[in-house]
Amino acid sequence: MIIVTGGAGFIGANFVLRWLQQADEPLLVIDKLTYAGNLDNLADVQGDDRFGFERADICDRDRIVALLAQRRPRAIVHFAAESHVDRSIHGPGEFVRTNVTGTFELLEAARAYWSELQANDRKAFRFLHVSTDEVYGSLGADDPAFSETTPYAPNSPYAASKAAADHLVRAYHHTYGLPTLTGNCSNNYGPFQFPEKLIPLTIANALEGQALPVYGDGQNVRDWLYVTDHCDALARVLEAGRPGETYNIGGKNEVKNIAVVQTICTILDELRPSARPYAQQITFVTDRPGHDRRYAIDPGKIERELGWTPAETFTTGLRRTVRWYLDHPDWVARVRDGRYREWIERQYGATAPSPQPLSR
Ligand code: NAD
Ligand code: DAU
Repeated sequence: MIIVTGGAGFIGANFVLRWLQQADEPLLVIDKLTYAGNLDNLADVQGDDRFGFERADICDRDRIVALLAQRRPRAIVHFAAESHVDRSIHGPGEFVRTNVTGTFELLEAARAYWSELQANDRKAFRFLHVSTDEVYGSLGADDPAFSETTPYAPNSPYAASKAAADHLVRAYHHTYGLPTLTGNCSNNYGPFQFPEKLIPLTIANALEGQALPVYGDGQNVRDWLYVTDHCDALARVLEAGRPGETYNIGGKNEVKNIAVVQTICTILDELRPSARPYAQQITFVTDRPGHDRRYAIDPGKIERELGWTPAETFTTGLRRTVRWYLDHPDWVARVRDGRYREWIERQYGATAPSPQPLSR
């Protein structure tokens, strides 16, 4: 069996659902269920006897050691993290705790477990660390895309905490021989993404007649990958990646933020027409401090070595995503109350965006 940390979050849940559709191997999710962890995401596999769930904090080494001893996994896929850049600016402490200390505690638990395995099981064991392109910093308009040898230059507390975790994972391979793998992926989008992130926030706000907040001049570029393509890439890395290696994962889909928001508006105009075009709700708001200008991933290594390529284009994936949010209003409603509302006020209260025409 395999253990998946953070499996109740956005990418983790997509990975779990896909894994259980495609493989017979049982899986245990370990998740603390922070504001971002949502068991609704895993409703389709509740009752499947290949699926197990334990609410646990990855910082709790004793608990993780006990779970490893009890379940005896052949691999750990490590998604658990604080993942939202803006939250890391408001409160970096939790990012250091979970992303750095949590990854350290998980590595220590994994090392203790792995070192006691029989030789064949030791060789076959894998620790797959899920990381981000943000560790590489920000690109200028004409810079080449990030490769696996691009120097680390994290700019936000979130990116710095992920970079620190990456370095620990690297060190555990180099020093102890733990068979680690790391995936550094670009921006994901798709079903179950918490509506604090640009794409689900835009869809949910548009449908509620609220402002669609675009930071700064809206010209920042992100490289978008449909979430199941990321999950497939990770499954492929787990299956055939070389221990100690890192793999950059991305779909060569660079898009400016303003274009992302405008495209969502166009799709909604078609699928859920309203009295006026949704683009009239677009509102430029104060920029994110230290906002990275451009991310772009060169996925050449994973394409060449592991034969992975994405199945979705941004056009097909974005339409699929908008349809999913339209088809799941209950999911959206349940995550948009309580703690999420408090967060929205803290993040956007100062600029209190109200709908304004794009041409203001
Ligand atoms: P998410 O915020 O949606 O989910 C994170 C999950 O981790 C939640 O279920 C949460 O409850 C859990 N968690 C948080 N702290 C925990 C702790 N201390 N112990 C146990 N569980 C804990 O995140 P996501 O967007 O699904 O991202 C998953 C991983 O992928 C993260 O490591 C992130 O850095 C990385 N990543 C994300 C993206 C993206 O675009 N979202 C891109 C590249 C890499
Ligand atoms: O690049 C991978 C990273 O992508 C992951 O490691 C992170 O976990 C994930 O959150 C994501 O980070 P970003 O900061 O790029 O994603 P976010 O959706 O928050 O923002 C995307 C872009 O849109 C970014 O340039 C900021 C901008 N933005 C975001 C929000 C929430 C806005 O213009 N308005 C908004 O309201």
